[in-house]
Amino acid sequence: MRSKVSIQKLTMSYYLKDRVVTALNGIDLEIADGEFLVVVGLSGCGKTTLLNILAGFIKPTGGEILLDGKPIAQAGLMNRGVVFQEYALFPWRTALQNVEFGLEMKGVDRKNRREIALKYLDLVHLTNFTNIYPHHLSGGMKQRVAVARAYAYEPEFMLMDEPFGALDAQTRESLQALTVEVWQKTRKTIFYVTHNIGEAVYLADRIIVLAGQPGRIYKEIRVDLPRPRDSFDPRYVELERETTRAVRQG
Ligand SMILES: Nc1ncnc2c1ncn2[C@@H]1O[C@H](COP(=O)(O)OP(=O)(O)O)[C@@H](O)[C@H]1O
Ligand SMILES: [Mg+2]
Repeated sequence: MRSKVSIQKLTMSYYLKDRVVTALNGIDLEIADGEFLVVVGLSGCGKTTLLNILAGFIKPTGGEILLDGKPIAQAGLMNRGVVFQEYALFPWRTALQNVEFGLEMKGVDRKNRREIALKYLDLVHLTNFTNIYPHHLSGGMKQRVAVARAYAYEPEFMLMDEPFGALDAQTRESLQALTVEVWQKTRKTIFYVTHNIGEAVYLADRIIVLAGQPGRIYKEIRVDLPRPRDSFDPRYVELERETTRAVRQG
C-alpha cells in the first residue's frame, strides 16, 4: 500500500544570530493511509518542529516530504487540519460559526456550510451548544469545537500538537476517547504529538519515540491492542513501560 505521507532524510536547522540549532536530523518515516501515528519524546526533542513542517507552517532545511505521492509544498494547506493546545477559537463567533470558518475559506455555500458544521459538532457531542460563544464553554468543550472545526474542512491529514495537554485529567480522558471515536468514523490519517505516554498507548496504532538533540527517531512501537483500550490491561501497562524506557534512553 502506498503511504499517505512519506518523509525522507528530513532535516531542520534554525539559524540564530550566533549559532545553529539542528532540531531534526535524518528523519525517515512512512505514514500509512488511515493510520493513527503518535509521536512522543522529551521536551525539546523536535516534536512540534516536525508537526509544523508537516502542517506547512515552516520549511525544512533538507529532505523531502510527500503527501499522496506529491511534494507537500504543492499539496495545498486545505488538505491538512491542525489542532493545537490553545483553543484558538474566535471569541466573537459562536461554536457553529467557528466550525463554519474553514468552510467559508474553502468557498462552501451557506446551506452546505451549516449542514457540514452541524454534522461535525454532532460528532463531538456539541449539538446542544451550537449557538454558544466560546467564553461560555468549558476548556474541554472549546477543544471539542477546535476538533470539529479541524475536521469540518474534511482534510486528508489531521495534525494534533498536545491538543488536550492543558485540560484536567478527566476531561483529557474523555477527549481521548472522543478522538478515537471520531478517527474510527472518519478514518483520516492522524499525526498526534504528546509527551504523555499513557495517552500515546491509548491512542496510537504506532508510537514513534523521538530523541534529541538533534531530533531523530529512536524507536518505533506498534500498539497491538483492540479499542477502546483498557489502561489496566497487562499488555497496555507493558507497552507504557516499553515506551517510557525508550523515551528515557533516547
Ligand atoms: N523558532 C525557533 N527558533 C530557534 N530554535 C527553535 C525554534 N523552535 C524550536 N527551536 C528549537 O528546536 C528544538 C526542538 O523544539 P520543538 O520542536 O519545539 O520541540 P518539542 O515540541 O519536542 O518540545 C529545541 O531545541 C528548540 O529550542
Ligand atoms: Mg512541542
